[in-house]
Amino acid sequence: MSNIVNVGVIGLGTVGSSVVKILKRNRKEILAKTGLDVRVKKACDLRDKRSVAGSAYTKNVNDVLNDPEIEIVVETMGGVTPAKQFILKAIANGKSVVTSNKEVIAKHGREIISAADNAGVQVLFEASVCGGIPIIHALRNSLSANNIKEICGIVNGTTNYILSKMSGEKFTFEEALKQAQEKGYAEADPTNDVEGYDAMYKSAILAHVVTGGFVDLKDIYREGITKISPIDIAYAKNIGYVIKLLAVIRNDGKELEVRVHPTLIEKDHPLAKVSDNYNAVFVKGDAVGDLMFYGQGAGGDPTASAVISDILEVACTGSSCEGDDCCGDDCCGHDHALAPMLKLKSMDNVKSRYYIRLETYDKPGVMASIASVFSKKKVSIREVVQHGSDGSVAEIVIILHANREKDIQAALKAIAKLNDVKKISNVIRVGID
Ligand code: NDP
Ligand code: HSE
Repeated sequence: MSNIVNVGVIGLGTVGSSVVKILKRNRKEILAKTGLDVRVKKACDLRDKRSVAGSAYTKNVNDVLNDPEIEIVVETMGGVTPAKQFILKAIANGKSVVTSNKEVIAKHGREIISAADNAGVQVLFEASVCGGIPIIHALRNSLSANNIKEICGIVNGTTNYILSKMSGEKFTFEEALKQAQEKGYAEADPTNDVEGYDAMYKSAILAHVVTGGFVDLKDIYREGITKISPIDIAYAKNIGYVIKLLAVIRNDGKELEVRVHPTLIEKDHPLAKVSDNYNAVFVKGDAVGDLMFYGQGAGGDPTASAVISDILEVACTGSSCEGDDCCGDDCCGHDHALAPMLKLKSMDNVKSRYYIRLETYDKPGVMASIASVFSKKKVSIREVVQHGSDGSVAEIVIILHANREKDIQAALKAIAKLNDVKKISNVIRVGID
């Protein structure tokens, strides 16, 4: 590639406009450090964004996709349709693609990466996971000597912001979400954040990065934060925990676990101290041991930092093979076949500790009947807390030792049927075991 690198951007919202702004602001510094003069030749958005991109602005995406001088297309519009079509067209036109779009990579990464391999171009997506944290680069490059045993992290800024504000400043869920949206952390549809889809996409991408295979999203266990109430946050605090939405990817060499759910974390654990829109990812490698990556996982500028690092990586390394002219599997390290689909461990067999909050009628023997169900299902209790009663109904919190999901669910089903149990209000996993 020449010294001048012409880039086309599709989508000038929170992330895309930061990419354009930072490339302009730091152009001289980037040139001095890398020898690359990165220029935004065309920038497309549905709405007039001349205020962001000046004369590079276009409303017509084909001005980006068909410009022979544009070597790298940056896709920061999000969603699947038409982002996927634009990415595939850019690849077909011989352009490398840099994207911040986790949804399109998690759902269609297998097809997109295979198309890129066959065309001899690159698709990089550092910004798709944890915004500004260079976690994908670290896993692929700095940690490539390791078998990655576990990745466990707070990978969604919006939910971390909401839970932090609900816990620290007693915000309601709605107040905290509104602020997260105003700050540009939340997805266009906040359901993606609060129901855990965004974290699920990121988990699937991380699983791909560490295994080379792809996960079917419907196999990933996913739970969001909408059932977490201020009452759970307060109980957790009283017994020394903080509630976080965690993504867990665990590979014991035989089975792969990928799951997303709220978790009570011991208050002294480093992940418990990660607040606001910050993300943090724990990585356990067989050689390196434990590492933690921490930084801003959302927001225009931090995410643009990751997008631009991918642009520079593509521009520095160029195309690594020649598509149809490539000599085969050996010359470039690329296997041009589709990557394998991965089988995940059944959630039934995943072991975890649990927090269970239930309402019972305040009568003698209630605890004994609950304990008896747990005992019959071989589920062991670690701690029971009862915070008073209104005379007729008592609220009880039970913390269980690590047990198989299947046994817990069977026990909860039986407990819900007990006459003296009014309702099971919430069930949350505990700890990073
Ligand atoms: P925004 O909604 O702020 O920006 C998307 C932009 O793309 C909007 O200006 C939108 O225009 C434009 N757009 C939509 N459709 C088209 C189209 N067909 N052609 C051209 N432009 C189009 O999203 P974000 O910048 O927040 O996010 C972009 C991507 O980056 C998403 O995949 C997101 O998940 C990801 N991401 C976001 C982060 C963040 O903190 N915001 C962090 C990490 C990743 P209009 O507004 O008119 O629809
Ligand atoms: N909505 C996402 C988040 C943006 O809150 O983490 C970053 O991917």
